[in-house]
This record gives sequence, structure tokens and C-alpha cells, in this order.
Amino acid sequence: MNLQTEINKRRTFGIVSHPDAGKTTLTEKLLLFGGAIQVAGAVKSNKIKKHATSDFMEIERQRGISVATSVMAFPYRNLQINILDTPGHKDFAEDTFRTLTAVDSVIVVIDVAKGVEEQTEKLVEVCRMRKTPIIVFINKLDREGKDAFDLLDEIETKLKLKVTPLSWPVGMGQDFRGVYSLYEKKFIHFLPHGKQDGEEVIKIDSIHDDRLIKIAGERLHNQFKSDLETVHGIYPEFHQQDYLDGKICPVFYGSAVNNFGVRELLDCFVEVAPTPKSRETEERIVDPHEPKLSGFIFKIHANMDPKHRDRIAFFRICSGEFKRNTNYHHVRLNRDLKFSNPTSFMASRKEVIDEAYAGDVVGLYDNGNFKIGDALTEGENLHFKGIPRFSPEIFRYVDNADPAKFKQFAKGLEQLMDEGVAQLFIKEDSQRKIIGVVGALQFDVIQYRLEHEYNARCSYEPLQLHKALWVHCDDYKKLEEFKQRRKKDLALDKDGKLVLLADSAWTLRLVQENFPDIRFSTSSEMQ
Ligand code: G4P
Repeated sequence: MNLQTEINKRRTFGIVSHPDAGKTTLTEKLLLFGGAIQVAGAVKSNKIKKHATSDFMEIERQRGISVATSVMAFPYRNLQINILDTPGHKDFAEDTFRTLTAVDSVIVVIDVAKGVEEQTEKLVEVCRMRKTPIIVFINKLDREGKDAFDLLDEIETKLKLKVTPLSWPVGMGQDFRGVYSLYEKKFIHFLPHGKQDGEEVIKIDSIHDDRLIKIAGERLHNQFKSDLETVHGIYPEFHQQDYLDGKICPVFYGSAVNNFGVRELLDCFVEVAPTPKSRETEERIVDPHEPKLSGFIFKIHANMDPKHRDRIAFFRICSGEFKRNTNYHHVRLNRDLKFSNPTSFMASRKEVIDEAYAGDVVGLYDNGNFKIGDALTEGENLHFKGIPRFSPEIFRYVDNADPAKFKQFAKGLEQLMDEGVAQLFIKEDSQRKIIGVVGALQFDVIQYRLEHEYNARCSYEPLQLHKALWVHCDDYKKLEEFKQRRKKDLALDKDGKLVLLADSAWTLRLVQENFPDIRFSTSSEMQ
């Protein structure tokens, strides 16, 4: 099959949600449809248990297992579907942010009773910044929840997304009868628990169809008719291009655990979702259909087994074809590397592959050559944009606790930062090292791994900071003046970019007022 056909077959996306909304369940149902797994539970058992919040070793162990399910590829209707798993656990939010740089679209799962939750807001903000096309799946319709219109309002206000429903629920909770697909003009009847598939599809030509009235009963049917009128009055018609441009998000209703509404979601997804998108580099825009290989590392996973020091670097192919045992140019190191065991991930098993195409993600065994954001090409020097770091939320000073092991400490810290476990800042005045994380768990992870993998020890000192903000200014003189006056609040990130460490929201406001020509952003890439 030729290169263009292969690339056009790829649909690479991520499923994101606040923990417990049903991401794992939905993923599993999609894999069942794709034949990638045979029984429910295969993905679930790999999920990071939500109760294990204080036991990071257990979490790391589970993360180790979940490498296998980090990317789940399966064929569906002559397409190659790649689902990139995103850890729902809040303390791994950075991991999720980075994974979002490697997808072409996203499905957001929302719990009908809880509505839009905090974690979802943050993740969608990243998608919005990148104009990633989004489909929303409102889950757990078998339970009592919020009114369908209220939910759409909430999505529009909290997530700042324009929506258009492509399915509409008839009843909810105890009264849930099914959904009407506005996209395919059919009614999907919800069957009570215990059935293999929780749905029965009924083709209807009109919403006045007798069968629908019989299933819904008069009250629900009247409600449904009036809802539908409102829907047509308020929400725009669905146009694929608006969705692809990130201007409108189609919304589906269903119940993942009952396998209800999932096939409709998948069938619409494969019709409308984008093929691999172009990617920006500092040098030029890379088109996926270019024959030469290019791509970047978006995630690195260390092996927790001390006997096997290797790591797996996740490489998103942005253009061309990747071949096993072929030399590729590592741009940052200016060196050629070849890979004898590149792996693809097929649900719960890993497989060595001979070739892969733009849109795919390949696992590369690595013993320290890769950092997040590194590019591989066929010789061209490309630097992919859009792999930002975000302001951490918790900070501590980190010091070497064993003077005899300084080298090990420095190396360990550097490698852990390359993996993206946390962010390191060096203060401009004192040259002290500061670690910033999204979840406090990472401090334990760093301490443990320094000790067990690098034979080094660290100590922490608390530090009260509000935010780290990247500083941007085109006017050299004004920037220098700012640097002089705020030196005690400044640091460099590990790429040498200037960062303001604001100790409170008040300080931040004050600095912004005093230096109107300086721009401060919560991500290392400008927004
Ligand atoms: P997550 O990955 O987003 O964290 O969520 P996950 O799929 O693990 O689902 C969280 C809980 O919600 C699970 O229950 C799951 O069974 C349930 N769930 C998922 N979809 C639906 C749905 O459509 N309706 C209802 N009523 N529940 C749903 P749990 O009790 O935490 O786990 P389990 O013991 O059922 O496995």
C-alpha cells in the first residue's frame, strides 16, 4: 500500500476526562468494537487506582504496567485508530498535557451528574490553545443527572467551547429510554442492564413514529419533541470543517458501561475526525504526506525494574515512514541513531514493528539519548513547536544531601527532568535549584528514584510560590531593566528561558502593572 494511503488511514486521538467520568470504560468499549480486546476489564486492570494516591510506588508500578496501554492501536472500518491514553490521575497532569501534543483530535468525557469538572477544564484549555478538534461524550445517562441543556450551557461557559448536539437523550436515569441521533436520524433504544449490548437501533423516519411514542410514553415524547425544537432553534447545524478548525464541538450522550451510544460515537468519529495534521517547527511547517520521516518525542517512560535501566521514548511520527534498523538523525545530539526493536502498542501487547507511518506512535528503547521534545529526521534540522511546559503548582528547593555523590545527584536530576517528571528552575540571584511539580507525589518519586537509580540523595526545603511564569519581551532595554529590578524573583528554566517566580497573586499583579511591556505566560510557549 502506498505511503499516502497509509497516512490517510490514521486517526490518532486522546480521550480526556476528570477521573471517574468514564474514560477507561469508554476506551475499553471502543477497543471491544475494534476487536483489539476480547473481554471487558483488560484496560481497566491497568488503570492507576484512584485510591492509591499516597502510595507512589504502587502508582509507579501500575504506570509500568500501563506502558502497554499507553497507545492502543486497532483497525476499524479500514482505518487505523490510535488511541493515546492520558493518565487521569491529577498528579500526572503534565504527562497528559504532553500527550495532547501528539494527538490530532480529542474526545472529552463528561459525567452527566457532575458536569464539567476541574481537570477537564485544564485539559480542554490545552486543546483550545492548539485548536485541537474536540468531540464531547456525556456519559452515565442511566443515572439521574443535570438537564441536557444546562450541561451544554456549562460546557460553553466553563470550557469556552461552542457546541452542537449530534444526539439527544429521551429521558434520563430511571426514565432513560435512549437517544435520538440527529446525525444519522435514528433512535437508539436503551435496553436495561444485563444485555450484551445495551442498545437496539430503531430506524425512524419521523420523530412522530409510533414505535418511539410507545417506548418513550406520551410525557417523555412530548418533552423530547419540545427539546428538539429548542435544539434546532439554538444550536448551529454541524459542519465538519468547523469541527476540524476547532470552532465547534459535536456532543453525544450515552452510557459507556452499558455500551450505549458508543458505536454511534465511534461511527461518527471515523467519518469526521481528522487525518494526521501538519505540525509547526521553528524552521517550517511539516506536512504529514512528505516522504521523509520526521517526528518528536512526547513522553519518556522509565523502567522501574532496576535490572533494566532502559527507558521507552514515545515517538510521534509527523511525516513520512519510519523503518526499523534505519539510521535517523537525532537533531539535538547531531548524531545518527537506529532502532532495532521499535514497538507498536496493540492494546495489552507490545509488538516489534518493521514500519510505521505519520500519525502513528512508536516506542523506542532508549538509554539516555532522548529528552522530551527531541526530533528525529532524515537529516534536516527541525525543532518541533508546541510541546510547552506549564506553570507547576507546588515548589520546593532541592539540594544534594550527600556531598560525595554530587555527580550522581546532578546526573539523576537532569535525567529525571528530561523525562518530564518535574520542572527545574535555577534562581538568578542565589543559583539555588527549585523543583516545580503539578502534584506533590512527584517529590516522592524524585527522591525515591534518585536513591534507587542514581545512588544519590536529595533534601527539600519548602518554598511558597504562587506561579512560575515565562517572561517575554521584544524590547531589549526594557527587559534588562526588568531583570535588574526583579532579580530576586527570577530564574531560568532548563532551556535557559527566563521565568518569573511570583510568590503571590498580588505580587504578580503588581509586577504586571509596573512592567506593562513585559508579557507573562503560564506556558513556556507564548499563548
Ligand atoms: P475514569 O477512567 O474516567 O476514571 O472512569 P472509569 O471508566 O473507571 O469509570 C468510573 C466509574 O464509573 C466506574 O465505576 C465505572 O463502572 C462507572 N461508569 C462508567 N460509565 C458508566 C455509565 O455509563 N453509567 C454508570 N452508572 N456508571 C458508569 P466504579 O464503581 O468506580 O468501578 P467498577 O467497580 O464499576 O469497575
